[in-house]
Amino acid sequence: MNFNMISRFKRQKQLPKDEFIDRILCSVAGMTSKQNIYLMDAAIAALPEYFDVLEIGSFAGQSAIVLDYLMKKHSKKGKIVCVDPFHYEGWYDQQNQSKEYLNSVANQAQLSRHDYLEFVEQAFRTNVLFFCKENPPLLYKMKSDDFFQKLSSHQLPELTGMKFGFCYIDGDHSKESAIGDMRNCISCSIPKAMILMDDSAPQYRYGSAVAADEMLKWKEVKLIDENPNRLFQKRH
Ligand SMILES: C[S@@+](CC[C@H](N)C(=O)[O-])C[C@H]1O[C@@H](n2cnc3c(N)ncnc32)[C@H](O)[C@@H]1O
Repeated sequence: MNFNMISRFKRQKQLPKDEFIDRILCSVAGMTSKQNIYLMDAAIAALPEYFDVLEIGSFAGQSAIVLDYLMKKHSKKGKIVCVDPFHYEGWYDQQNQSKEYLNSVANQAQLSRHDYLEFVEQAFRTNVLFFCKENPPLLYKMKSDDFFQKLSSHQLPELTGMKFGFCYIDGDHSKESAIGDMRNCISCSIPKAMILMDDSAPQYRYGSAVAADEMLKWKEVKLIDENPNRLFQKRH
């Protein structure tokens, strides 16, 4: 892939069939699109041999495991750091404010949100320990804002010296959070770092897509590809 040319083709690109990626996608719960995997692969391939990866929003570990695999595939070395408070996203919470609904998973009274979030966190831990045995990701169970605040105020000494070269933003999809995550990723990453924003395609209506439209005007990053989500690179 030529990073000097911004692909404007609307045809969505995918990697050739990969047996292990197919295995991950059917074994581990998650939302990692094959188009995003194409962008992750291209970004990781283009980066130097040593760099760390930052993922905001990990859910049950699917995308983190894909990233670990792509790092190995391209013989890249570094740590994967995952940030997720395991926050429940109720798509219809605005329409149904009853206590029963807000405490349950998709209106299933026998499934509490609290238990579900414990289940998702446990699934993350089990999945990454199984699939990333050699170099399991580090998990920070907190919102990205809190993570970046602690990182910048040296409250996470074990992360001192991290060189984040690839960031995957897939946490809170509101415009404000997407912008905050992007600004923080820009601040904590190495020059020329790649930053992929999930659900940022121009045709989407998520806050993350509106935020990505604004980022096109920022001087700190340039658009590298759209597939259909947007992959940015830090200019310096
Ligand atoms: C779409 S899911 C992530 C899916 C995962 N990246 C994958 O592809 O399998 C979004 C995740 O973001 C997390 N999240 C929500 N708000 C967040 C925040 N402020 N900071 C970090 N993560 C957040 C949620 O707990 C949820 O697990």
